[in-house]
Amino acid sequence: MFNLFAKASVPSPRPIGGEWSAECARIHASSFAYPWREADIEQLLLAPEIVAAGAIEAKDQTLAGFIMSRTALDEAEILTLAVTPERRRCGIGQSLLSAHLAGLASLGVNRVFLEVDIDNAAARALYERFGFRQVGERKAYYRTEGGKPASALVMRLDLT
Ligand SMILES: CC(C)(COP(=O)(O)OP(=O)(O)OC[C@H]1O[C@@H](n2cnc3c(N)ncnc32)[C@H](O)[C@@H]1OP(=O)(O)O)[C@@H](O)C(=O)NCCC(=O)NCCS
Repeated sequence: MFNLFAKASVPSPRPIGGEWSAECARIHASSFAYPWREADIEQLLLAPEIVAAGAIEAKDQTLAGFIMSRTALDEAEILTLAVTPERRRCGIGQSLLSAHLAGLASLGVNRVFLEVDIDNAAARALYERFGFRQVGERKAYYRTEGGKPASALVMRLDLT
């Protein structure tokens, strides 16, 4: 069902740093079977080559979602994108990705890569919507709770 209120209340993405590591870890843990440790997230958020943005709720200053990329010269790799489960399908993922890509372009990034689980229909649909195209596949790349490892699709988007 179309949720007009939820769409209208999408928080504007803004840059985030190490002070958001606990909130990022909370969302990561609720989004992936093998979550990253808070200390590792903090280290990433403090690294100069990392660009990160968060969607922070106006009402209580909690994080609703975040995105993080590693940049190297004119390329970037999206390391993670996650939205807290109760706020999914409200446009937050789309808003984060859109702002993040614009930010990367303004830093001189021309090509963006990412890896996505072949079975992750939601993420694949989102990335394809933004023009990402499959350029490779890594077989048995992700551990899964079910036992059989899942393949990762490597996707690429040219920003120029
Ligand atoms: C993938 C994820 C970030 C999407 O965030 P979101 O805020 O729910 O996405 P949005 O509401 O902005 O949706 C944008 C578009 O993505 C696609 N999409 C999002 N969720 C979808 C779903 N469950 N099924 C199919 N398409 C979906 C749709 O095209 C959607 O547009 P629409 O709502 O107009 O149909 C979110 O599902 C998530 O955090 N998943 C767990 C972590 C994860 O898998 N991250 C990606 C790792 S590569």
